[in-house]
Amino acid sequence: MIGVLMGKRKFILSALFLVGMHSVQASSENSKALVIAKENSCLGCHAINKKIVGPSYQEIATKYKNNSSANTFLKNKIQKGGAGTWGLVPMPANTRLTDAELSILVPWILQGAPSNN
Ligand code: HEC
Repeated sequence: MIGVLMGKRKFILSALFLVGMHSVQASSENSKALVIAKENSCLGCHAINKKIVGPSYQEIATKYKNNSSANTFLKNKIQKGGAGTWGLVPMPANTRLTDAELSILVPWILQGAPSNN
């Protein structure tokens, strides 16, 4: 009986621990994404919640909400640039971005570019 109780408590504690770890992990990914976006001048043309030259990251997240190939499509589009999805104004190519950076940026954009706090 005591064994069962202790087992349960351990389980709850480790579950809480895992939930805590997850949010720390998520927020550090968000801040990495924000740094990459700043360093590559993305935020000169894209704001989180309003159109500047390009669509806001929240609009982009909404547009691709149910699109399972969005991740691959957008990584490619960001790297190569191009026009036609949102209008006639093209996005310039961003060839300096590595695949690892794109793998942080794109999921962040697809979540509507959350900031940490
Ligand atoms: C000079 C302005 C400019 C810069 C800098 C810029 N973008 Fe864009 N971006 C645009 C425009 C304009 C569009 C709309 C293109 C279209 O209609 O196909 C766009 C579209 C996008 C889209 C949606 C693409 C689609 O086809 O739906 C994403 C995602 C995106 N940009 C991410 C980024 C990221 C990340 C960076 C930084 C590495 C960046 N942009 C830098 C202007 C810019």
